[in-house]
Amino acid sequence: MTSNILDGRLVSDSILKEVSREVKALVKAKVLPKLVIILVGDSPASLSYIKQKRLASKKTGINCIQKVLDKNVTTEDLISIIEKLNKDKTVHGILVQLPLPEHVNANIVIRAIDPMKDVDGFQAYNLGKMFLSAKFECLSPCTPRGIIKMLEYYKVGIAGKSVTIVGRSNIVGKPLAIMLMNRDATVTVCHSKTAHIEDYTRDADIVVAAAGRPKMITADMVKKGAIVIDVGTTKVDNKLTGDVDFEKVSKKASLITPVPGGVGPMTVACLMENVVRAAKRLTPK
Ligand code: GUN
Repeated sequence: MTSNILDGRLVSDSILKEVSREVKALVKAKVLPKLVIILVGDSPASLSYIKQKRLASKKTGINCIQKVLDKNVTTEDLISIIEKLNKDKTVHGILVQLPLPEHVNANIVIRAIDPMKDVDGFQAYNLGKMFLSAKFECLSPCTPRGIIKMLEYYKVGIAGKSVTIVGRSNIVGKPLAIMLMNRDATVTVCHSKTAHIEDYTRDADIVVAAAGRPKMITADMVKKGAIVIDVGTTKVDNKLTGDVDFEKVSKKASLITPVPGGVGPMTVACLMENVVRAAKRLTPK
């Protein structure tokens, strides 16, 4: 039997190889793509995400700088740091690792990032472009793009498919719904207030679990042959655990992403792509 695993490490490696080639070409033209990651505090989850981003930067030749700020930093302080980075011509990508502490207004902080350097694709300008059509997606959010690239790599058609997304975050659920609609899928978005989520997941050709609730998608919630994408990454007993009960659901699904090694590496690879895109667009011809 052939494997039904969607291998995020394999697919991300092919993207990173292409990114490395593009970085080399930019360096030849005297442009060193530079990403600045801002971390507030020392959350272990954020530190571990950033570690992956730094490793991928190193692999591809992107200059990645990490700025660690005290957890008591104010919204105003953060904005003033971002404004300096906006003006710095050597910086091509600015990423503020989320979540930010409660006292910081994350929406206002993200709004301060120059849309041309918004490599997370979280800025209203970039989200608005994504809203218009697939053609206008440029600096689009990395996890949704990673999921779409993974489906494309494995030749899973999206047009006409019924997709149920569980989770409506600004980072994953909401932008993914738009990007899938841009590609002619029929999309349902469930969330914490949805009654009987299983009524929606059972009908879906593709189920995307992005709720941050470990193993909430059980085998009885998916139809036989469904494609299951797991965005969850919660530490349970010190083990990274997805939102899908992988052991049982993988026996029913035609294709499924593992955790770790599924969506996570795809997100990071798409971030690297965005840094290169930003560097190219910011470089005068
Ligand atoms: N926190 C969890 N995922 C992400 C992400 O993709 N970008 C940022 N900036 N923070 C995150």
